Formats: sequence, structure tokens, C-alpha cells
Amino acid sequence: MFSQIIPNSPPHFPNLSETATAYAPSNIALIKYWGKRDDALNLPLTDSLSISLNTLGTTTQIKISESAQDSVILNHQILSPESIFYQRLSKFLNHFRFAENYHFEIITENTIPTGAGLASSASGYAALVQALNQLFKFNWDERTLSIAARLGSGSASRSIFQTGFVHWHAGMRSDGMDSFAEKIAEPWPELALGILLVNTQEKKISSREAMKTSRETSKKFKTWPAQVQQDLAKLLNAIQNKNFLKLGEVAENNALAMHATIEDSTPSFSFCTPETLKLREKIWALRQAGLPIFFTQDAGPNLKILYLKSDQKILKTIFPELLIPEIHC
Ligand code: PMV
Repeated sequence: MFSQIIPNSPPHFPNLSETATAYAPSNIALIKYWGKRDDALNLPLTDSLSISLNTLGTTTQIKISESAQDSVILNHQILSPESIFYQRLSKFLNHFRFAENYHFEIITENTIPTGAGLASSASGYAALVQALNQLFKFNWDERTLSIAARLGSGSASRSIFQTGFVHWHAGMRSDGMDSFAEKIAEPWPELALGILLVNTQEKKISSREAMKTSRETSKKFKTWPAQVQQDLAKLLNAIQNKNFLKLGEVAENNALAMHATIEDSTPSFSFCTPETLKLREKIWALRQAGLPIFFTQDAGPNLKILYLKSDQKILKTIFPELLIPEIHC
């Protein structure tokens, strides 16, 4: 809750010329966050675990202005105050209006396609809270930054960390003060991740909406929280033992289980396109033929491939379009 993390009187009030700029990476979950226990505070039903994408993310610049409303420039385009993106952002910024008669000027740029199931809202809100933290000189620590980012978008709680594995603890408190992410200090430099872009268009259904429909209507969702708990334990074990085959198997299975809850919803829906399904088949066939690769998939049609760096050369010949972020696990 913002009232618990924002001091009653902000320690510093910026003047009009002061700007703050921050960068945050996107992240890809190996154990998915799917389903909330509190919609307003973005509190998850389960823990989740991700890998940060280091150089693929969002840079956001912020300053206060005397104009009559917030202004938002996203990827060089001025956003209409009517757009969902603007309205969500402006509502979030309401928590940072400590005096009357001021608004914010936001300039934000993604190095990842917005809305393509590549979690740009994660890097977006993580960059924004870090810029706000600078602007108002809150001096928030990583835990508080993670909580603040979570209030903008759940998966943003994990984007506070630049690289490597990140574990978001679901927490139990109703105020969410124990629901934050932490870095897992387990170096695994051999591990790699590549992105196969199927479609970079905005998706028709947001993850927020799809998550809610799954939780409320999917019969398969009933077993999802228990599966996540088991998968997480197996994945943490795989990371500790550098067991790539186990990590891949658990991550792929977890993603497929999440998509099964989505496709089992009423009204039923799928984030897969024919191209996604073809790529899944191709990855399974390559694996059968002895290439150790696995995929994960978020609320969109794109696939992310998990592999070992020693196989990068061959993967690049099979998928020349593979986008390879630095993950530094
Ligand atoms: O943070 P949101 O509301 O964009 O939800 C993200 C959900 C998934 O990307 C599908 C899973 C995850 O853990 O990132």
C-alpha cells in the first residue's frame, strides 16, 4: 500500500526543471504469475520466478509540470488521454501528487515491442518507480522498489533486478508488504534464452483480463496453485544443481499448464497463433532429435527458448531470427 511506503511529507519536492531518468529490464517467468489474491494491490496467489533481460527493457524520464494534465510520450508518440495505457499510468501517478496543481511529463521508450507478451508493463512500471524514487528522493531500498513496482503491474516487482534469476514471494499479508521480489544469487553462465517473435502487434486481451477470467471460470485453474508450488520447488532445485534438462522440463510444463487454464476459460481463448503451434512442434521435434531446447510462453503468441550457450551456434542456424538478450545468470 502506498500509504505505507510513501512518507507523509515527501523528503524532497522537485522543481520544474528537475528530471529523473531510470532504466529497468523486462523479465521472462519460468514459473508463471497467473492469478491474483487481490486485484487492486496486484497480490499474487503464488510465488513466481523469472530471468531478467538486462538490455531489453524500458527507459523512462519524468518531471513535474504545471500543465492541466499529465503528458505521456511512448516510443516517440504522444499518447491520447483516452488510451488505456495513459489512463492506467495517470491513475498510478495519482499516488505521487503531493500538492495541488501539478502533473507529470513522462517520456518512455521501450527496447522491446509494447504489448507483445514480452512484459513491457513489467519494465515500464519498474523504470517508472525508480524514476519517481529519484525525483522525490525517497531513498527506497530494493524491497520497497519491488513493492511499489508491483502496485503498477505484478510482474514489475521482478524487474527491479537487472540480470539473473529473480524470485517473487507471494506473501500472506493483506496489505502486501511481504509480497516482493528478490534476486537469487546462483550463477549459471551457461544458461541462455532467445526470443522468437511471432507477432509484435498489441494483443487483443490483456494479461490482467485473461488472468481474471482464468481464475474465475477455468476448472483447470483449481489445480494451478498447487502445481506452481511443486514446480517452483523443482525449479529451485534444478538451478542449485545446474540441471538444465530439469529446468527446461519444469519451465515448459509450467507455461503449458498456464495456457491450459486460459484455454479452459469461459469464454475460451488462446494466445497461440498457428505460427506459435508450429514453432512448439518444431522445438519438440528438435528435442526428440537430441537438441536440448525448451520453450516458455507468456500472455502472447511469442516463444522464448531456453538453451545452453554451447548450442547457440546451431540454434542461430535453425532460427536465424532469434533475438538473444543478455541474461547473465
Ligand atoms: O504483470 P502482468 O499483469 O503483465 O502479468 C504477467 C503475466 C505473465 O507474463 C503471463 C506471467 C509472468 O509471470 O510474467
